[in-house]
Amino acid sequence: MSGTGLDEYHPGLEGVIANETAIANIEGTDGAGGLEYRGYRIEDLAGRVSYEETAFLLLHGDLPNPGQLAEFDRRLKAARAIPDALLTLFKQIPPHVHPMDVLRTSVSVLAHFDPDVDAAPTDHAANVRKAERLTAQMATAVAYRERVRKGLPLVAPRDDLDHAANFLSMVSGKAPSETMREAFDLSLVLYTEHELNASTFSARVTASTLSDLHSAIVAAVGTLKGPLHGGANEEAWKVLEQVGSPDNAEQWIKDALARKERIMGFGHRVYKHGDPRAAILKRSCAALAKEVGDDRWERIAEPIEREVTAQKHLPPNVDWPSARLYHYMGLDIDLYTPIFAMARVAGWAAHVIEQLDHNRLMRPRARYIGPPLREVQPIGKR
Ligand code: CMC
Repeated sequence: MSGTGLDEYHPGLEGVIANETAIANIEGTDGAGGLEYRGYRIEDLAGRVSYEETAFLLLHGDLPNPGQLAEFDRRLKAARAIPDALLTLFKQIPPHVHPMDVLRTSVSVLAHFDPDVDAAPTDHAANVRKAERLTAQMATAVAYRERVRKGLPLVAPRDDLDHAANFLSMVSGKAPSETMREAFDLSLVLYTEHELNASTFSARVTASTLSDLHSAIVAAVGTLKGPLHGGANEEAWKVLEQVGSPDNAEQWIKDALARKERIMGFGHRVYKHGDPRAAILKRSCAALAKEVGDDRWERIAEPIEREVTAQKHLPPNVDWPSARLYHYMGLDIDLYTPIFAMARVAGWAAHVIEQLDHNRLMRPRARYIGPPLREVQPIGKR
């Protein structure tokens, strides 16, 4: 088999280098681990750049200067509207349908109305325009659908609010406090990009067939939904609720691990010593818990973290603090993963564009383990 590569099997593609990328580095430039977006450490970006600046960095290659940011902001705000057809569809989809499924449908519908729908899939400039529009529209789609399913009047986008504050205002009907806006913006920044995770890989595989950007993002939304990936932030909240009190944490974790269950919001395929995003977001959780005057969930989260680390040596990942953060903002649990998606779209799109700029069809191999060669029997003899 040597020469075919079939002797090298990596279940889950663990450790396999499938791409080169200039977008994110999760090894850290010095090899010591960590997360960098286009050469900037996440710790240096956190709290210093907005989601808009981060999306610009990913889509355009560097942080914007004031003029570039103002222009980018103007384009995003101009793209916040969604087609009436999508709004009509929101009213027809039953209210119980998970917002992540509605978001997947939304991206597909948005494709039909995109002014660049007929552009060649490899048209770099058209892809950047599509990516910018989707970044604005996905937030609107999540917020509008939320209002529609609850039977509430729609809240129009506000040009005086940034991406983070505008989304929260469109969902709740009121502009967030500054602490809440900052924390939400930070969570979007931290969710924007993460190298070749499952959903980004899925987007790149789709793009590699020379399919279009929207199709790649539809694939990514579907991939993010699963609880081992983006869906973990919703599951992490359920862990907190089920534990219910700091005193229950030790026994609950023991029992769950004895049943061989996974504790959602813990562990990572690459970060074995801790997810840098989780440490940053934990600080925002504490600040927000203080602002809303309810530290119960912080007090429950602490012993759970301690027990999972003690019993299984697994540190929390980004989805662990984000669940609490979104709870403090009064957001419904099933919005947590769509929020992850509406942030990650900039990272996905950057990868799709990078893939299409230097494309090679992704077509790995599978090692065959089925029955040996056999003869087809006539139907009467089977
Ligand atoms: N709870 C309990 N045990 C775990 C967990 C967990 N969360 N994660 C890993 N393990 C165990 C696993 O069962 C295995 O144990 P053993 O050696 O006894 O069989 C060992 O740790 C190694 O696990 P693995 O399957 O090799 O790890 P992986 O690299 O495939 O898993 C993971 C990565 C993220 C799928 C996993 O840690 C997990 O299922 N975590 C819970 C879901 C989650 O929080 N996902 C979010 C990931 S990060 C952000 C994102 O993508 O949204």
